[in-house]
Amino acid sequence: MGGLMVRVAIIGGSGVYGFPVEEPKDVTVETPYGPVKLRVGLLDGEEVAFLARHGEGHSVPPHKINYRANIWALHELGVERIIATSAVGSMNPEMKPGDFVILDQLMDFTVSRPRTFYDGEESPHEWKFVAHVDFTEPYCPEIREALIRAARELGLSYHPRGTYVCTEGPRFETRAEIRAYRILGGDVVGMTQCPEAVLARELEMCYASVAIVTNFAAGMSGRKLTHTEVVELMGKKGEEIVRLITR
Ligand code: HPA
Repeated sequence: MGGLMVRVAIIGGSGVYGFPVEEPKDVTVETPYGPVKLRVGLLDGEEVAFLARHGEGHSVPPHKINYRANIWALHELGVERIIATSAVGSMNPEMKPGDFVILDQLMDFTVSRPRTFYDGEESPHEWKFVAHVDFTEPYCPEIREALIRAARELGLSYHPRGTYVCTEGPRFETRAEIRAYRILGGDVVGMTQCPEAVLARELEMCYASVAIVTNFAAGMSGRKLTHTEVVELMGKKGEEIVRLITR
């Protein structure tokens, strides 16, 4: 990517398909995992990259996202810090639809996704070795702190920590699964933090994620879940998300 140096990236999840940056430029970054389209622009004078996780028009389901290409592309641009958004279901009665959760922990229940850059001999790049990264604290404490401060200053309804359970999807969970995840200590459930957060750590980028509760998880409300309610809630929170991240 000839000469572009972008230090901060925003990854928009469900409902966040763009970001109001100035002087927007659409760029395509080639990676060993395929090309990635993203937008670069100025936010408050800082050059930032914006990447829509689910692609144009939300065309890629969570289990098919090319997470490695996405994270590699951001690294290629020089990105050091990533702020991601993720729509989640809540299994914690205190975390209600519309609330923000500045995630501090996660559990990985995905089953079929490529999840590492350190694939030994199979790696499509020059690192053929084996590596095991520390993941005790999966989220960047500095960006988390900044997000918590911004959420407080903006008077948003937020929770300063929360444990994210990552499921494979694309189906929503069963009542029994949600009961089990609650017992294990989960607060919210979604389908995309793994391997996204893992891959950012593998490339030593500081990654944090603000989760937006769009619904109570399966069996918590006595109602069926629909993707429509996720999209509708996100539509209502769009403006607050932009203010939070910009701050
Ligand atoms: N489950 C999994 N992923 C989700 C949910 C949910 O209830 N809501 C938004 N993303």
